[in-house]
Amino acid sequence: MSARAEYWDVVILGAGAAGLMCAIEAARRGRRTLVLDHARAPGEKIRISGGGRCNFTNIETTPKSFLSANPRFCISALNRYTPHDFIALVRRHAIAFHEKTLGQLFCDGSARQIVDMLLRELRDAGGELRLATSVSLPDRDDGTFRLATSSGPIACAALVVATGGKSIPKMGATGFGYDVAARFGLKVTTTRPGLVPLTLDPPSLERLAPLSGIGLPARVSHGKTDFDEAVLFTHRGLSGPAILQISSYWREGEEIAVDLAPGIDVFAALKAARAENGRQAPASALTALLPRRLAQLLGDDHAPARNLADLPDKLLRPLAQAVNEWRFKPAGSEGYRTAEVTLGGVDTDELDQKAMQARRVPGLYFVGEVVDVTGWLGGYNFQWAWSSGWAAGQAV
Ligand code: FDA
Repeated sequence: MSARAEYWDVVILGAGAAGLMCAIEAARRGRRTLVLDHARAPGEKIRISGGGRCNFTNIETTPKSFLSANPRFCISALNRYTPHDFIALVRRHAIAFHEKTLGQLFCDGSARQIVDMLLRELRDAGGELRLATSVSLPDRDDGTFRLATSSGPIACAALVVATGGKSIPKMGATGFGYDVAARFGLKVTTTRPGLVPLTLDPPSLERLAPLSGIGLPARVSHGKTDFDEAVLFTHRGLSGPAILQISSYWREGEEIAVDLAPGIDVFAALKAARAENGRQAPASALTALLPRRLAQLLGDDHAPARNLADLPDKLLRPLAQAVNEWRFKPAGSEGYRTAEVTLGGVDTDELDQKAMQARRVPGLYFVGEVVDVTGWLGGYNFQWAWSSGWAAGQAV
């Protein structure tokens, strides 16, 4: 690369949540800061997030809501830049928001307000953003990073990789950040889709076809982890917040347990219904607890008897279990096409948790989803992007 390369103090690859936050902080500190992105528009995932309203943080954020090979890695950044810091920024820009449920904060208006807020902050801080720019894998010599880009050669003292994960390739997601890590000999943990709908095999799909479109509150568990949120039956399998949450814990070949009537002892409820009116069909008794089509299917499958009175306890119990302890083995997931996040990523052992800097490559930083830190559904992933981007922004 020629000596005529443009020189910047800080170059940030990726104009998403983490990259923009890092750029704002770096520029505020007086660093000459350039953000590069191959997309035509910045913050595209912010724009489409939360159904267009951006669930921008969660006021109940704690490290427990994150998955990582090192669950303690995220603590420093989350403690130094908290949901309240981001809320203060949102308030300064007079963006109206509300808590939807479970600590999740959403814009009242549009997610675009968050993108506009970040762009305004970046401009006011003096940072530069260059879009529709492709970037080569970087090289490093004499402590300077060098990149070939479609807008010419660029050199910088600090390089921040904020290119996100692989989810939603249609929106420009790439594995570029992992390739940069590999280029510098840094370990990357296995990546897989997270917060993703789960699919069923054809026979199960056929059996459950009548349920497509039904949603209900449930408790979904895998090992010691459970989530009390909605489950949705789809024409491909299962979705809804509870399923997306548990998908991040599930591995191929494993079972998931679903309590379709959380908090209700269905065996006791069915016994009471039998005592009160033994002539009703088991499915009718279940409709008091479940959506009609689901009650019908479970009644038909597990209690073919016409009347509840014809079901002794030993036959009533499996029916109750089918509700309180329904178990299924997903065939797979819908993959990166619809996953909200990528689990795994740049190994946290390689990074200093305070600055997000590669221990073995001074000047190289990784922030946001490209790192092996993944949040639950509910605003946690943006909080990680803000916190980790902010942390690197103080150090570059
Ligand atoms: P992000 O993916 O945002 O940004 C990476 C940037 O790098 C992109 O602009 C991309 O174009 C660019 N890039 C990639 N490869 C490149 C290359 N080779 N060269 C140059 N540029 C490159 N989270 C949450 O907390 N609340 C929510 O409401 C939602 N909702 C939601 C909905 C949907 C549909 C999805 C897919 C995801 C969410 N998420 C979410 C997750 C959240 O969007 C995600 O975790 C963050 O956007 C991650 O921020 P990053 O900045 O790390 O990556």
